[in-house]
Parts: sequence; C-alpha cells; structure tokens
Amino acid sequence: MIRLSNLPARTLKAIGTVFNGFDGALIIDEKGHIAVITENYADVAGVDPEEVTGKHVLEIFPKSRMIEVLTTGKPIFAELWEAGRETVWVTRVPIVSDGRIIGAAAVSVFRYMDEAKRFAKQLKNMDSELEYYKSQVRKLSGARYSFDAIVGTSAAISIAKTNAQRMTRNRAPVLIVGETGTGKELFAHAIHQASSRRDRPFIRVNCASIPDNLSESELFGYEEGAFTGARKGGRAGKFELAHGGTIFLDEINELPGNIQAKLLRVLQEGEIDRIGGTDVSLIDVRVISATSAHLNELVEQKLFRQDLFYRINAFILVIPPLRERLEDIPLLCEHFIDNCNYELGTAVAGIDRKVLQAFARYDWPGNVRELRNVIQRACLNAGSDIIKTSHLPFESIGRKGTSASTDGGSLEEYLAGVEREYIVGILQSVRWNRNRAAEILGIHRTSLYAKMKKYGLLEQ
Ligand SMILES: Nc1ncnc2c1ncn2[C@@H]1O[C@H](COP(=O)(O)OP(=O)(O)OP(=O)(O)O)[C@@H](O)[C@H]1O
Ligand SMILES: [Mg+2]
Repeated sequence: MIRLSNLPARTLKAIGTVFNGFDGALIIDEKGHIAVITENYADVAGVDPEEVTGKHVLEIFPKSRMIEVLTTGKPIFAELWEAGRETVWVTRVPIVSDGRIIGAAAVSVFRYMDEAKRFAKQLKNMDSELEYYKSQVRKLSGARYSFDAIVGTSAAISIAKTNAQRMTRNRAPVLIVGETGTGKELFAHAIHQASSRRDRPFIRVNCASIPDNLSESELFGYEEGAFTGARKGGRAGKFELAHGGTIFLDEINELPGNIQAKLLRVLQEGEIDRIGGTDVSLIDVRVISATSAHLNELVEQKLFRQDLFYRINAFILVIPPLRERLEDIPLLCEHFIDNCNYELGTAVAGIDRKVLQAFARYDWPGNVRELRNVIQRACLNAGSDIIKTSHLPFESIGRKGTSASTDGGSLEEYLAGVEREYIVGILQSVRWNRNRAAEILGIHRTSLYAKMKKYGLLEQ
C-alpha cells in the first residue's frame, strides 16, 4: 500500500513540480502532514514551502478543511476560500489507494477570480433583469386583462367565467363564440393570464384584417429570399413569436381557405415551416380562437374546413349577448364612467335612473362595446353632471324596435341613425358574417368595417 509519508522527498518534489503549473495545490498525507505545497500556493498564503512541508496542516492553516476531507472521505468542490491575501476557489478531494484514504489534495484557482466574481455579478443582474422583463411581458406583450377585469354578476356572465376558469388548467384549444362586442378578447386575455403560460407571450392575430396574400407569412414567417421584398434574415411568424405562450386567432371565421389548410397542419403536427424554408421547428403554442359568426353554419356551407373546426374547438366558450344579462348594465356603466373620468378627465358623478331604464329596454346589438361607446360620449357631454337622457347620442337607445328618432336632430343624424339600424339588422340576419353582410349591402368589406367602426360596432 502506498503511504505518502513514506515517499522519498524527491518523489514529492516531482509531484509538486507537476502541480506548479496550476494556480496552487496542497497535499497532505494520512496523518495530516503537509506533503506537497506548490510555490504558487505558498506565495499566495505567505509561507515558506521548505519550512511548512512536513508540518501538520492545522498548525500552518488553522481553518483548513483538509482534515475534514481526510476523515470523512467526502470531497468539497469549488468553495470560496480566503487564503492569505487572496480569495480563491478551492476544490479538495481525498486520495484513495486500495480502498483506503491515504491523504487529501487541494487545488485552487485564484488567477481568474476577478473575472469569476464579475461573471457571478453579471448573472445576478441578468436574473433580476429577467424578472423585470417577465413582468413587462405580462403587462405589455399581450394579456392585460384578468378575470377580475370582467365586470358583471349576472348568472349568464358568471357561468361563462366559471367555464373559462376551467379552461386555464390545460392547453387544449379554446373556441370563444359570441356576438360582436361581448368581450371575447377580454376572455381570451383572462384565460392566458390565469394559465401557467402567463409569463410567456400572448399574441393576437386578427384573421379578418391580414391581407389574403400576406397572411401566410404573417402567421408562419418566412426565410430570407422567400419572395421579392422579403426581409434580410427572414422574419418570425406569429406562431413562433407565441412560442411557449398563447396565440389568439381573432375572427377565425374570416381565415382564407388556403391558410386554413396550413393552420390545420400546424395544429396537428405542432410544427411550422417558414415560407421558403427547409427547416421545420417544433412549437408549443396554445390556440384560442374567437368567432362572432356561427362556424358550424360556415362548415355546412363549405366555407370553413370541418377538420379545422374540430381541431380548434376542444373547448367551446359561449359569451352571452348583453341583452341576456341586462342586470349587469348598472355595474358596467359605473365601470365605464370611472374609466372615462380617469382617462378623459371628466367628473361624471353617476347616471340617472331614467337612463338605466332606457338602457334596460334597448337590445344592444353592439353589446358591451356599444354600451362603452355610449357611456364615453355621454360622459363627454355630461362633463361634471350625472348622465341624463339628454346626454345620450342619437342612437335609438331606449326606442327598441322603432326606426330612428324623429324628435329633433339634423338630417345627417337622422340618416346615420337609419343607416346604423339597417346595417345592424343585416348583420344580425347573417349572424355577423361580415363578408355576406357586405355582399347583401352592396358595399366593399372595408367600407362595411368603416361604418361598423363609426357606429360603435367595432373596436375604435
Ligand atoms: N364584462 C366586461 N367588463 C368590462 N369590460 C368589458 C366587458 N365585456 C366587454 N368589455 C369591453 O368591451 C369592449 C369590447 O370587448 P372585446 O373587444 O373583448 O369584444 P369582442 O367580443 O372581442 O368583440 P369583436 O367580436 O367585435 O371583436 C372592450 O373595450 C372590453 O374591454
Ligand atoms: Mg374582438
């Protein structure tokens, strides 16, 4: 059996020479006596190597942990250690021969300590920066609304909320169905926010507003040189941007046929390939879609692929129209008045009972968004008063089922009122399918959008 204490001085010196190339090394024998100490180490520790060789390690370095390693046989890796005038990283290991511990060795690093410390500090900074960005992602990149932001206590909205909350626990695709302005987007945000994906992006794609020929690259990205005008370095599509998070396919009923096929593939395989690219990347994205048109009817008419329909509707979340939860109106009014006072600087103190009564008789074709727009305009008119009937816009609020007002107002206002009612009627008759409504009305889809916007039926 080898005994370090028996080795000739020449051999120990040879071992020391081997270790001299390292920053520092110290070897003790089975009795704890220093067998080898490199010049480097002795220098940093401020001792004379000749003098300390053969002495007990604790006599020279009273706080040394070498004896611990010798007796337990357990190594101590990469520990920060004050050695004389330097702080060093030191690793200590037992020396084992024929199953017996015959000594212990320590190797230390002190040359790169400044860099190591800087590196550790950098990591720490990056960590806190990362935390900050995560919170910003939550705030900016997408989901701003939680379930708490969905105002209403009616049974209809409470059921929708409970159902939606159940959908936060896994990543199955959700299809949100509801008339325009019912809060579909709000629910999509809330589901993302309450899911484990909340720190990852929430990316919204409006399937109705991407031009047909561009939507493929918008969704799936493209490689450099894929087509004329393609950006250098290519571009990531929305699916890639949403990796780890949620993609919200708004107005999915408007998705062009060729893109429907491609989307189906992505959902089936969980893979995307950029246009003009050869590599396929795996993606992990939760899909939430929304539609104000009845998709099953579109499927029957062969305007929407049935296989895609089944892919996206593992969960169906129905958001009831406002006329089915009229009891939420007072709370919603209060909420929107608060918002106006804050954002527009008004000082509206409340709302007249007569107005609420009129609101309860109206059928709200533009749903919560229409109510919000009505309140906004009324707030601007009311200033610091409470909202009264006279502050309401020309719309047929409170005159359910009748044509536009005949009691005063300009011709322009009257015509606008009639136009709005007609458009709403047509939209309702085609279940809010805008392409068909535009066809029936004999106007282009974009001018239908413009009019819907003007009449508070779309996001402003
Ligand atoms: N329950 C609610 N509480 C508070 N605000 C609401 C509620 N429902 C809807 N809103 C507000 O009404 C507006 C319309 O909501 P949202 O955009 O989610 O509707 P949508 O169903 O997506 O409409 P569209 O089909 O036209 O896109 C938004 O400003 C939203 O914040
Ligand atoms: Mg929407």
